[in-house]
Amino acid sequence: MASRLFIKKSIPELIEQAEDRGQGLRRVLGPWNLVSLGIGAIIGAGIFVLTGQAAAQYAGPAIVLSFILSGIGCALAGLCYAEMASMIPVAGSAYTYAYATLGQFFAWIIGWDLILEYLFGASTVAVGWSGYVVSFLKDFGIVLPSEWTQSPFTFDPKTHTWATTGAILNLPAVFIIALMTTLLVIGIRESATMNNLVVMVKIFVLLLFIGAGIFFINPDNWEPFIPPNEGKFGIYGWSGILRGAGVIFFAYIGFDAVSTAAQEARNPQRDMPIGILGSLGISTLLYVVVALVLTGIVSYKMLNVPDPIAVAVDAVGPELFWLRPLIKIGAIAGLSSVILVMLLGQPRIFYSMARDGLLPKYFAAVHARFRTPHITTIVTGIIAAIFAGLFPIGILGELVSIGTLLAFTIVCLGVIVLRYTRPDIPRPFKTPLFPWVPILGAGISLLQMLSLPWDTWLRLLLWMALGLLIYFTYGRRHGASRAS
Ligand code: ALA
Repeated sequence: MASRLFIKKSIPELIEQAEDRGQGLRRVLGPWNLVSLGIGAIIGAGIFVLTGQAAAQYAGPAIVLSFILSGIGCALAGLCYAEMASMIPVAGSAYTYAYATLGQFFAWIIGWDLILEYLFGASTVAVGWSGYVVSFLKDFGIVLPSEWTQSPFTFDPKTHTWATTGAILNLPAVFIIALMTTLLVIGIRESATMNNLVVMVKIFVLLLFIGAGIFFINPDNWEPFIPPNEGKFGIYGWSGILRGAGVIFFAYIGFDAVSTAAQEARNPQRDMPIGILGSLGISTLLYVVVALVLTGIVSYKMLNVPDPIAVAVDAVGPELFWLRPLIKIGAIAGLSSVILVMLLGQPRIFYSMARDGLLPKYFAAVHARFRTPHITTIVTGIIAAIFAGLFPIGILGELVSIGTLLAFTIVCLGVIVLRYTRPDIPRPFKTPLFPWVPILGAGISLLQMLSLPWDTWLRLLLWMALGLLIYFTYGRRHGASRAS
């Protein structure tokens, strides 16, 4: 029955379901914890790994403009997330918003799509974490065998072929996922405390880089600020800034993860917008300044490396050598918290889907003592560890971007739909300049999706096809069959 596909959940019912009756998730997170969760998820591989490559290959010093551009796109989507999260303060993020606005079928689509963002996001960043840890240990003379620190498979985008590398497993990547999963099972409070600590370390290191690096800026490195285009779209010039923005979009992913923890926030209506927009604002500011200092202290041509900030510090000379290990510690801390928050977001989406019957009910169990969704946390951890252990970072990263952009598009459209269909629901936070903010938010997200390679689209389509198969064989039969 087609009508079953579009069954919606009423917002009062969603909120009622989420009420804590002493057995559910624990409401312990205040506004600062939420901002910190957002920063925890945002600042990671994007700034510590991808910035250099994007500057060297596409935008030059104008990578600063790429950061601003991509930040504006994210701010538009962030405002829409903030409106939704304050109106529907329930675990599950965009999945739950879609269930309330567009119906069960779209909710399933987005729930399935969010796996790309959170679960694959954790795997991607775990592979980056492994790279940094291996290099950090090497600086101290500890060399880990490469069979156990690399992915056994690799993909060549030019020939579209897979090959084996001779490695067995990326063990450090599996290790960090296992560690974070254990912490997340033990408790939300413990996880948030650990996250706060790690966030402080990474922000401190970035501020140290800015504070020390600023004295070594040579303005000649910013000339020309926008290197002339080399005749091909995306290789410098304005098109290079656009392509750079597409690449470093990854650096902003994560602010929406705040909304998955709505059911553990003490005052979600007020604090969700603070968490989402506060973390996005602070990270954008840091990114722009770090990018300015980075391209000011070395020529962008030197930055096509996996550890651009460390390379820039080295290039300055002995005066900044002391900063090198600290940068690596900052990067390792940064990547750890991204993994933590992504692994926190995913189980809460599975939990909501299971509670709604779209996944086995057993998944919605909350641990009696720890009060965490332990089953979904462990399942997420095992799958993320398998992907992190076996696959290379590039393949995983592009899937994460396209999946996130699809979620942003649907959330922006959802804001428009709800303003017209349910104008009566209280909205503690409303996006300004309606309908322009959601229209532009959806439009920019779609444009960024279109700029990704065809291979990535193909994988998205395959992933979605698998999702539909599961929906029509399981979810539709077990999900709610009448409008609530
Ligand atoms: N924004 C996160 C990072 O850059 C995913 O690692």
